[in-house]
Amino acid sequence: MQYNINKIRSNFPILNEQVYKKQFVYFDSAASAQKPIQVLIKEEELHNNYYGNIHRAAHFMADKATVEFEAVRDKIKNFINAESREEIIFTKGTTESVNLVASSFGEKYLNEGDEIIVSEMEHHSNIVPWQLAAERRAAKIVKLPFSNDGVLQMEKLPELINSKTKLIAVAHVSNVLGTINPIAEITKIAHENRVAIFVDGAQAVQHISVDVQKMDVDFYAFSAHKMYGPNGVGVLYGKEKWLNEMPPYQGGGEMISEVSFEKTTFNELPYKFEAGTPNITSVIAFGAAIDFMNEVGIPAIGEWENELLEYATLKLKEINGIKIYGEPPNKSGVISFNIKGIHSYDLGMLLDKLGIAVRTGHHCADTVMQHFNIAGTVRISFGMYNTKEEIDIFITALNKVRMMF
Ligand code: ALA
Repeated sequence: MQYNINKIRSNFPILNEQVYKKQFVYFDSAASAQKPIQVLIKEEELHNNYYGNIHRAAHFMADKATVEFEAVRDKIKNFINAESREEIIFTKGTTESVNLVASSFGEKYLNEGDEIIVSEMEHHSNIVPWQLAAERRAAKIVKLPFSNDGVLQMEKLPELINSKTKLIAVAHVSNVLGTINPIAEITKIAHENRVAIFVDGAQAVQHISVDVQKMDVDFYAFSAHKMYGPNGVGVLYGKEKWLNEMPPYQGGGEMISEVSFEKTTFNELPYKFEAGTPNITSVIAFGAAIDFMNEVGIPAIGEWENELLEYATLKLKEINGIKIYGEPPNKSGVISFNIKGIHSYDLGMLLDKLGIAVRTGHHCADTVMQHFNIAGTVRISFGMYNTKEEIDIFITALNKVRMMF
C-alpha cells in the first residue's frame, strides 16, 4: 500500500504554520511529537459529552468516562501485545514509570551489595532513578558500555553479570544515537542468569512494532506525547508476577481495597499502582493517537522514517566538517551531529530562524556526551509526517548557516 504522506500531514494543522515567515519544518519529534486533530477532537468530545471522575461514581457520565478510559488500556495491551490488561499501568510518563519500578522493585528486591546494570547510552531518566534506589539500598550501578559507532558491547554483558546482579536497565532505542538495541538477546542473557530487565521504550514504540511477550521483557515504559498523543500520560508494562509481588509506589485513593488505622489492604492490578485520580483526559485522548498510529500502521511508518533517515544521512555526509554520532547497523528516528567549528547551540538557533526546529545540547544523556567528550550535539528526529522535501530545506539551511561561520 502507498504511504499517503499528504493525507497523513493533513491531520496535523500545525505543519501548515509559518515560523519567522518561513515554512515550519519540525525535526524534533523525539522530544515531543505533534498531535493529529483526532486527538484534539477526542479531548473535546470527552469534555463536551461524557466527563466525570472514573471508577468512583454511580452516574452515567462517570460510567461512560470509565468505559472510555479502560478501553484505552485494552488498546495499549494490544498495541504492545501484553498478555493481560492488568499488566498495563498508567503513569505520568516514561520517567514516572522508571521511578515506579526503581522505587518499588528496589524496595522489594535490592539488598546491600546488589548490582544494577545500566547501559552507557541511557537518558538520565533511566539512570538517576536507579542511582537513587541503589543509594537507598547500598547497592551499586554497573555500566554496560557502547562502542564508538553507538553499538552496545554485548560481549561484555555476560562478564558484568554475577550473583549480585538484580536488574538490567536499557533503552530500546537511544534518544541520541538512534541505536536499536537487541532487547530479546539482552533479555535472554538476563533471564539465563535470573536477572530482570527494564526497557525504556520512549523512542521505540512510535517507530517499530513492539511485542513485549516476544521480547520477553519484565518491564517496558513509554510516553503518550512522543506517540502523537497528549502530554502527561505514559505507560508502564510489567509482567504480572512482578507487579503482584512489588509493593505499591504511592498511596491514595483507588489503590486500596480496605483502609483502617490498623491495617490497609491494596487493590488488585493494575489499580494497585494507580493512586489518585489519573489523567483522565489525556488517557482517553491517547486512545485516539493509538487508533491513528494503527490506521497508518507502525511497519509503514517505520519504513517511511527509515527512508528519511537514510536520505538525510547521505545528504549530511556531503557537508564538510560534519561528524555524526551513532552509526549502528540498526537505527531509528534520530540523527545527532556536530559541524566542526560551530557550537551546536548556535547551529540550532540559526536553523530556528530559518523555520527549522531541531534539538541541541546534551539531550538528557550526559553519559553519551562524556563518551564522545563533547558538550552537546544538534539532533534531528523524524515523525510519520516528515518528508524528503523538508530534509532538502534543512540541508540548504544548514549550508547557509555554515557559510556564516
Ligand atoms: N527525552 C526527550 C528527548 O530526548 C525529551 O528529546
